[in-house]
Amino acid sequence: MRLSLRFVLPLMLVLWGFAYVVTPLVDRLTLRWFMRDLDIRSALIANTISEPLFDQLAAGRKVKIGEFFARITQDERLYALGFCPTTDAMPLASKSLPKELRCDTLDRWPHGGDNQLPSERGPLHVSVQPLANETYPSGRLVLVHDLGYIARRSEETKRYVVYFFLGLAAIVSLMTVVIAQLSWRGWVAGIRSLLRGEGLLRDPGAVGKFSVPEFRPIARDLQRLVQDLESEYRARDESQVTWTPETLRAILHGELRGNDVIVVSNREPYIHQRRGDRIEVQRPASGLVTALEPIMRACSGTWIAHGSGSADRATVDNHDRVAVPPEKPTYKIRRVWLNQAEEAGYYYGFANEGMWPLCHIAHVRPIFRSSDWGHYVAVNRKFADAIVAEAPSENPIILVQDYHFALLPRMVRERLPEATVITFWHIPWPNPESFAICPWREDILAGMLGSSILGFHTQFHCNNFVDTVDRFLEARVDRETFTVSLGRRETAVRRYPISISWPPDPAIVEKPIDECVAERRAANRLPRGHRICIGVDRLDYTKGILERFRAVERLLELNPEWIGNFSLIQIAAPTRSGIEEYQSHESQVRSLATRINERFGRAGPTPIVLKVEHHEPREVYEYYRAADCCFVSSLHDGMNLVAKEFVAARDDERGVLILSQFTGAARELPEALIVNPYDIDQCAAALHLSLIMPAQEQRDRMRLMRRLVREFNVYRWAGRMLLDAAAMRRRGPLANTVA
Ligand code: G6P
Repeated sequence: MRLSLRFVLPLMLVLWGFAYVVTPLVDRLTLRWFMRDLDIRSALIANTISEPLFDQLAAGRKVKIGEFFARITQDERLYALGFCPTTDAMPLASKSLPKELRCDTLDRWPHGGDNQLPSERGPLHVSVQPLANETYPSGRLVLVHDLGYIARRSEETKRYVVYFFLGLAAIVSLMTVVIAQLSWRGWVAGIRSLLRGEGLLRDPGAVGKFSVPEFRPIARDLQRLVQDLESEYRARDESQVTWTPETLRAILHGELRGNDVIVVSNREPYIHQRRGDRIEVQRPASGLVTALEPIMRACSGTWIAHGSGSADRATVDNHDRVAVPPEKPTYKIRRVWLNQAEEAGYYYGFANEGMWPLCHIAHVRPIFRSSDWGHYVAVNRKFADAIVAEAPSENPIILVQDYHFALLPRMVRERLPEATVITFWHIPWPNPESFAICPWREDILAGMLGSSILGFHTQFHCNNFVDTVDRFLEARVDRETFTVSLGRRETAVRRYPISISWPPDPAIVEKPIDECVAERRAANRLPRGHRICIGVDRLDYTKGILERFRAVERLLELNPEWIGNFSLIQIAAPTRSGIEEYQSHESQVRSLATRINERFGRAGPTPIVLKVEHHEPREVYEYYRAADCCFVSSLHDGMNLVAKEFVAARDDERGVLILSQFTGAARELPEALIVNPYDIDQCAAALHLSLIMPAQEQRDRMRLMRRLVREFNVYRWAGRMLLDAAAMRRRGPLANTVA
């Protein structure tokens, strides 16, 4: 393509120049030359015929003059001749002399002028030459030349000029191509080898290439400089972009040349469940799904996930694929099937009884069984097979999600070495001491380092990961560029705080706030004027639901005016209920709610409304819009998107967010009331404050938080990762190979 452009462009340029510059110039020049030539020729003819003409006139043979002139005008170019003895006589002329040329009008044709006369046979040239003697002192000879032969000759000249220019253009184009090819290759090779620390150092006399170690630092500095420039350029660019689904699509089609994205996660975005003889589509309660679904809608591609719904098999095609979203399909889910033993070992066992508590450090002991590990390895391999089968090319972009797939990046890398693997870890990463208790810690780390980019929500988690690698692997850790090299491959460890889509889907925020308040109160049989705080979580021990209830209890102890006037509505989506720890957590939550409700809710509405059931996003948003405050009290959380959803739902700029300091979100939303969920008194005070906070203060805080979520939406989160991946691809082997 580039080659043909280099050839065609100069050719086009030369032809354009020929058509618009050379041709008119040639026409004008030849015409001027021929005119001058005709004037000279006319003078010559006049001189030549003056003597025989006057002889004829003297002999009184005026009638013969016409024949005399007719003989002379047999010449190809001379069309007509005439003689005017005086200014008022009729011209003595050949028959062909145009009628317009009369003796009394000859002054119109000045000597040397552009004397063209249009006629039926084409343009004629008129030349008037003085031809006098004693008898005819004011005699003038009129010579009319046919200009047609000039046009014929000009055509001929042009033809030769065309041949000449075509030849010239071909030579110029060929030379351009050759020179461009040579210099481009030279440049690319030069820059590549320079950046690898070779170009500067190569010995021209040596066969092959070798580098002088003393120059390596210069090359490394250069390499770093390029990386810095790239990230600076990106940062500047990034902040100037409005991040929308279109922006993402543009990155994919521009920077990543239309490559399809493959997302891999355990949880699927749409679950088909059988309810009696109907099939229902369910949206799971998962921060990961909440964030990635809008991305997939924007980018298309394939989402590979565990098919866990009771009607999932009934809804796929022959290739285990189903197009989603059901209302307007834009991408496809490729379902992977797991048998009971696999699900028990890989999902419930290693992922959720081992890795989940290991990474969250929420005072629940991780359980590691070697049989679970065996299933974890096998299921990771099964997903790697699915990725290879779905990959549209040798170098796809693969987004691996979360702690279910720590081994997957390396497995994919072994089978698709050119792939760009971006792994995002949605949960916290612990410190090296805590991580050390995992019996397969080295395998986990090496597996993750198959990624090209490894993302966490916070810099704190990136630091923890790099420290852990430093402690347990023979890998090179570069803390300046935040890269880890294991073998000859390099992984960039980066912070990408996840978010939600902005603006929120109009359909889920369309109901006016007043209606939301009235309806949600009515649905929970709460009286008018009753104050509501909302909690939305999976029923997970990391979410601090027990601590939240204790804070409500303390609020009512310290501020009894709220008894009967305030309720915490806790939406708790059932989750991982096959795990003992979750079962016992659920019963603790239920019994604590009952105890507090018995203590403070006898006379009227209960202070805790516990709803252990699945809620669709539309209903959850209605609760957000109806609440005076939203309480997020996670004991440890990678980000926590409930906090951001609450902010997005409040287009009235009201409502107070109470946010645990142990969430990633707390680093981005300092305008929330930041609390330590273990400090029950502090949480109770925050609850009280949220209920009495003046409207203006609520507005000021909410406005700032909304601005942040708007600017750092989920499209920016994904866009930054994809831009980094694109930059990495541009750098090519340099990104993955260490000198
Ligand atoms: C967290 C994890 C996700 C997971 C979600 C729901 O957000 O980071 O990977 O999907 O919890 O948990 P579940 O086990 O139901 O998928």
